[in-house]
Amino acid sequence: MTSVQRQEWRPDRYAANARFVPDLGRPVVGLLAPVAGERVLDLGCGDGALTVELVRAGAEVDASEAMVRAAREAGLDARVMNGAALAFDGEFDAVFSNAALHWMTEPERVVAGVHRALKPGGRFVGEFGGHGNIAAIATAIRAVLAGRGLPVPDDGPWFFPTADAYRALLEAAGFTADTVELFARPTPLPTGLAAWLVTFADAYLGGLDEAQKTDVIEDVCRLLAPSLCDGTGQWTADYVRLRFAAVRPR
Ligand code: BEZ
Repeated sequence: MTSVQRQEWRPDRYAANARFVPDLGRPVVGLLAPVAGERVLDLGCGDGALTVELVRAGAEVDASEAMVRAAREAGLDARVMNGAALAFDGEFDAVFSNAALHWMTEPERVVAGVHRALKPGGRFVGEFGGHGNIAAIATAIRAVLAGRGLPVPDDGPWFFPTADAYRALLEAAGFTADTVELFARPTPLPTGLAAWLVTFADAYLGGLDEAQKTDVIEDVCRLLAPSLCDGTGQWTADYVRLRFAAVRPR
């Protein structure tokens, strides 16, 4: 069994290669429809780029100290906390999450903690990677690692559920699930696939030395270019999103 490497969160890389993440999360803020004066928890706020637009009087949580430092520099009340062990009790009008829940691989504990954190009538609204997300990218990485005789992590490092599975999880935790939908959202990568891999794929590449990493990234890009890179050199990731809105009943 090969263990999965931890993701190292680097705010500099995130700012350079992943600005599209908060940009594409704006429709989720629309689904939340925050109202002035509400207390909102942004679960997995990253560097807070979307949070600043969301709410001024909230608390934001992220499990990465480096990203939380970046969010604090943006003037937010961000704290480091394990998403699977939220220490809040009935204090938020809403919990919001964009592109973060797929990093939390104990979803039952996460959803239970969100339920506990909300006031009765509070909303849980978010979007994250759903079933089939980055299937081509992950398959190519695994194939290249195996082909080079390098360790391939056994378990996927991410949680990408189907809509039915996530609805069942929400309902089992006591939520009423209003919307749970899965849709393909091909996502242009402004700085390309190699930069995306460097920013996000430590689970697969984190244990390699620099030379191995460079070679693997080159091979992955060569393998995927016919399907994910167009004639102008624009890379598009095969993202699938799961978007949901649920309520903790009164
Ligand atoms: C995502 O947003 O779908 C994602 C980002 C990085 C790694 C895996 C998934």
